[in-house]
Amino acid sequence: MIIDVPELSLVALVGISGSGKSTFARTHWKPTQVLSSDFFRGLVADDENDQSASSDAFEVLHYVAGKRLAAGRLTVVDATNLQSHARAGLVKVAREHDVLPVAIVLDVPEALAWERTQAREDRTFGRQVLTRMHRDLRRSLNQLAKEGFRKIHVLRGTEQIEAAEIRYEKLF
Ligand code: CTP
Ligand code: MG
Repeated sequence: MIIDVPELSLVALVGISGSGKSTFARTHWKPTQVLSSDFFRGLVADDENDQSASSDAFEVLHYVAGKRLAAGRLTVVDATNLQSHARAGLVKVAREHDVLPVAIVLDVPEALAWERTQAREDRTFGRQVLTRMHRDLRRSLNQLAKEGFRKIHVLRGTEQIEAAEIRYEKLF
């Protein structure tokens, strides 16, 4: 499965916890191209899981994304991006730099994500949290286009995710 991505774009990964966003990001991009919400929470709060640091973390993440886009560098945002307001911040940064916002949705069964999450020591939330994320994901699928994402790729299930190949489109 070929995923066309403009050479200069802001790529938002979208998926519930355990859907494989960070794994996908590591597979397809250099570490410096990927801005992860965990990393920025760590930077501002010494704790990647400190949800109370999210607002500061995203402020810094958006700032860095803006600097990268201004320099013409493709930027990938590794966060759940399940809420419209979270995605709006990314669309705004992309627009400010005349860059296309692209969404890549990793849509895996909730049960699989739960299994993976339970195996991780750094994820301690309960099942209801994951269920809420899954509901938010379903809603997100209907909203992405009207929010301004210019390309929306939905990868359904582990097979499509693993078979994905990124192809870069030259814009000019
Ligand atoms: N994993 C796996 N097989 C895959 C993808 C992921 O076994 N094809 C495992 C990873 O090794 C990890 C867990 O599933 O232990 C979650 O994957 P990760 O990429 O970290 O998921 P994220 O979507 O980034 O989860 P979070 O939102 O919690 O960061
Ligand atoms: Mg992750």
